[in-house]
Amino acid sequence: MSFNRNLSEKAQQIEEILKEYLPEEKGFQKTVLEAMNYSFLAGGKRLRPMIMQEAYRSFLKCSGNEAGGTKVIYPFMAAIEMIHTYSLIHDDLPAMDDDDYRRGRKTNHVVYGEAMAILAGDGLLNFAYETAIKAFALCRDDTDRLRVSKALEILAGKAGVYGMVGGQCVDVEAEKKGLTISAEQMAFIDENKTAALIEASLMIGMVLAGASDEILQEAERCGSNIGIAFQIRDDILDIEGDESVLGKPVGSDEKNEKVTYVSYYGLEKAKEKVEELSEEAERILQEIAGEDSFLIPLTNWLIDREK
Ligand code: IPE
Ligand code: IPE
Ligand code: MG
Ligand code: MG
Ligand code: MG
Repeated sequence: MSFNRNLSEKAQQIEEILKEYLPEEKGFQKTVLEAMNYSFLAGGKRLRPMIMQEAYRSFLKCSGNEAGGTKVIYPFMAAIEMIHTYSLIHDDLPAMDDDDYRRGRKTNHVVYGEAMAILAGDGLLNFAYETAIKAFALCRDDTDRLRVSKALEILAGKAGVYGMVGGQCVDVEAEKKGLTISAEQMAFIDENKTAALIEASLMIGMVLAGASDEILQEAERCGSNIGIAFQIRDDILDIEGDESVLGKPVGSDEKNEKVTYVSYYGLEKAKEKVEELSEEAERILQEIAGEDSFLIPLTNWLIDREK
């Protein structure tokens, strides 16, 4: 099967899984629930749940337990996409990147107002944990329960102030600072605002499939490479991309005088860095996920993507 067809079939299956976990739009708080679902169901590549599921599958296969998979991964796939979607809703707010277009639709705050967009983000963040915790009910034994506990710890850590939120903090503070910020601060932004959730996706998939702490460290390093390359590609697309394909505005970084890998090092260096990071990622994937893992073509697609 061609890569593109395989990708779209997988994305379709993930869509069905994610939908199962959405809240019903009812009750006095109906508006916030609608706002949450509006952004969640707006499409999106579903990259993080896909990485998570493929890491789970690949590690089970590598460890000779191909048939041993269960649905324990599903609540985590939904949870990571909820956290990612909340981060996008807040990232687009006037106080942050002030963007009007996301996933091919008007942004949440444009449709529902700022107060409701803030609450929709808060709602999705909290609902992510309410959802991930459901994985305990799918455990067969104490081994499974221990894995779910570890997965929760990874999810919470990578999404918070020592992960995505921390990266967004430095991203916002670095606006208009150009070359006066250090190379370390520059690297911190991409490592945390974007790579942290990709690391979490790989690590959670692996830990639920029974990976050891050593493998998890490798998965983290691999996720870091993929995540940073992914963000640099996003920064390149903010300059060279096509708005109608991307589903979000181009030129947002310039408008906000963002410090990105591209503004810091230039386009050419940025493109070289993407190549270098993805080669390293592929090398690690061959070791921990196996040569025939879908994660390898997926990584190659991500760093060349147009959307
Ligand atoms: C956008 O993420 C934000 C970044 C971290 C660059 P995606 O490019 O994965 O966005 P969706 O989920 O496909 O909309
Ligand atoms: C987004 O970085 C990172 C998070 C949302 C955590 P960007 O601000 O570059 O993402 P886009 O370009 O708006 O999707
Ligand atoms: Mg931003
Ligand atoms: Mg943005
Ligand atoms: Mg961007």
